[in-house]
Amino acid sequence: MRPNMVTTTLPWLLFTLLPPLLLFTKLEAKVPAIIVFGDSTVDAGNNNQVPTLVRSDFAPYGRDFEGGKPTGRFSNGRLVTDFVSEAFGLKPFVPAYLDPGYGIEDFATGVTFASAGSGYDNATAHLTNVIPLWKQLENFKDYKNKLSNHFGITKAEQILQEALYMTSMGTNDIVLNYYLVPERSIQFTIEGYEDFLVSIADNFVVELYKLGARKISLGGLPPIGCLPLMRTLFFKSNKGDCREEFNNLARNFNGMLKDLVSKLRKEVKDIKLVFSNTLDKSLQIIKSPHLYAPQKDVPVDDSETDHDFDN
Ligand SMILES: *[C@@H]1O[C@H](CO)[C@@H](O)[C@H](O)[C@H]1NC(C)=O
Repeated sequence: MRPNMVTTTLPWLLFTLLPPLLLFTKLEAKVPAIIVFGDSTVDAGNNNQVPTLVRSDFAPYGRDFEGGKPTGRFSNGRLVTDFVSEAFGLKPFVPAYLDPGYGIEDFATGVTFASAGSGYDNATAHLTNVIPLWKQLENFKDYKNKLSNHFGITKAEQILQEALYMTSMGTNDIVLNYYLVPERSIQFTIEGYEDFLVSIADNFVVELYKLGARKISLGGLPPIGCLPLMRTLFFKSNKGDCREEFNNLARNFNGMLKDLVSKLRKEVKDIKLVFSNTLDKSLQIIKSPHLYAPQKDVPVDDSETDHDFDN
């Protein structure tokens, strides 16, 4: 497949997890900062600074964001990580590291290195010229230095140790790179590719730990069979419904990540690692939206709403 084909189909992949997943109010734990890595689910505008077509710095993105401005979040409003930040009593949003509108003092309480279109696999980011995971980690090292220069080593280390690290990626590796581009699918079976991705996740967590991280939430895949792209590709056979075989694939991959988390908890001293699985909750919201966001004066018809999820 030619690169321009890839970039034009990509926006269909972008899938925003719904904030109602995180309807907790203020949390008790002391977390001085939220530090984020991943793809469009958690990019707050890094791609605005990168020569890629995978961007969202135009309307109607951001129409419900403060000031109604398209920040580069692939969302009408805030992202899940923004809500998490607010719940910890920090800023109501997590700024993008490459956003020139923010500096180290802002990033000291939260920063995202994520890049829409990216994934675990270097080759995934390469497809659309976005920021690969290894480079996100390099940017994190740069952040770490700036933090030390600004606050002194002791304070910087303390922030980095007590911060909550969140990751969210994998969808672009599987949906885009494996299924829409030939290279990886010639090289690997899907099971082999999933093993490859999990080994990258494994190295990434260990690297992050070596750089000072202790509290890490490894995010799982969303219900990828419900992506607008999947519903469209299989429209003929599925009539616009979610493609269950892909949701099952995501569930299987999440099981592998969960096993990785159990393994690392045993192997890595003092790590507080959790697996964050939002698949079934998201699916429930997609299938029964009225249970979560009842809207006054809007008649709800189950048979309709099930086909209407298109953000
Ligand atoms: C991804 O690319 C970086 C930089 O070239 C390299 O260090 C790393 O080993 C690569 N990762 C994998 C899994 O190939």
